[in-house]
Amino acid sequence: WWQSVEPAPKDPILGVTEAFLADPSPDKVNVGVGAYRDDNGKPVVLQSVREAERRIAGNLNMEYLPMGGSVKMVEETLKLAYGEHSEFIKDKRIAAVQSLSDFQKRFSPDSQIYIPDPTWANHHNIWRDAQVPQRTYHYYHPESKGLDFSALMDDIKVREADFDLLTKNAPNGSFFLLHACAHNPTGVDPSEEQWREISHQFKVKGHFAFFDMAYQGFASGDPDRDAKSIRIFLQDGHHIGISQSYAKNMGLYGQRVGCLSVLCEDEKQAVTVKSQLQQLARPMYSNPPVHGALVVSTILGDPELKKLWLKEVKVMADRIIGMRTMLRENLENLGSQLSWKHITDQIGMFCYSGMMPEQVDRLTKEFHIYMTRNGRISMAGINTSNVGYLANAINEVTKS
Ligand code: LMR
Repeated sequence: WWQSVEPAPKDPILGVTEAFLADPSPDKVNVGVGAYRDDNGKPVVLQSVREAERRIAGNLNMEYLPMGGSVKMVEETLKLAYGEHSEFIKDKRIAAVQSLSDFQKRFSPDSQIYIPDPTWANHHNIWRDAQVPQRTYHYYHPESKGLDFSALMDDIKVREADFDLLTKNAPNGSFFLLHACAHNPTGVDPSEEQWREISHQFKVKGHFAFFDMAYQGFASGDPDRDAKSIRIFLQDGHHIGISQSYAKNMGLYGQRVGCLSVLCEDEKQAVTVKSQLQQLARPMYSNPPVHGALVVSTILGDPELKKLWLKEVKVMADRIIGMRTMLRENLENLGSQLSWKHITDQIGMFCYSGMMPEQVDRLTKEFHIYMTRNGRISMAGINTSNVGYLANAINEVTKS
């Protein structure tokens, strides 16, 4: 039956975890997957989550959720992204469901998606599976290890008449994927002023902005402040889409809980769009899993628990910032001739180190350090016990 099936390539991110787990070395370090660890390198379950689970335990039944998922969870999640007192929520203009679907292909069949270069590796899989053609737009500037703002603006700005299939410039009315905050993998975000310019240009060109917000809270330590890019687009009157995730900021990785929302013209359109989002969910997974959604709605629906959660998000973000400083200091103290300023300039869970794939391979082979071959370091995997070892290894493989 299956003779013609070829082995699938290893996943560039999750494959790193598989290789790490298979390595028996006691020295091994995993800075591959973006998953938070404490200073002992252990996974963390937030206290707010534990307390929510305690409260849920006695009251939980195992009924199906609706196709659109938990209504309460979705309500609270929209407040986080669109703002606690958002008029769009009040006017019921947002079509939102728990989880993901391929809406774009079905209702805008000729569209393509513009994805930043680079981006989270799985974005390519998601749009490939939805059969939406992908193009990239400039984002990262390798020399400065920061944002290539002028190239990014050029890509979104050029007039339709200038559109040339051989360049990366986008025709009017294109779909763009934007990382709302803490860009993965680069750790480089536009400034507030730059977001304003991007939003303005999107307006001029009639582009549609779809935000991936997987790290809300990890950029500044404050989820509300991290929604700044979205709020700017809302102020400018864009009809945006957002996918939000609680994998990182509530540490609910394996629970797979998130929310997909689309801001519509009015309530009637939102009801229509939501009905189609649910229709997409039905053949894929029918309705989403319930436990994570209950944890989220319990936390966000209780002012005390929400306060505790916000504190815990800040603790995670601050520990990562501390590790940035330590990694940079260690490299400088070792006398590295390279600049490591970008380690502390970049934000969120990742450092886009600038190391080449061959240098990453040496880290793995010689030092049992596991990370993605694009040089991305998950700062959350660093702690006070392994930072010296990691810095020494990085220094060794980057010596000319
Ligand atoms: C990552 O980028 O490491 C995470 O988002 C985990 C994943 O699924 O890739």
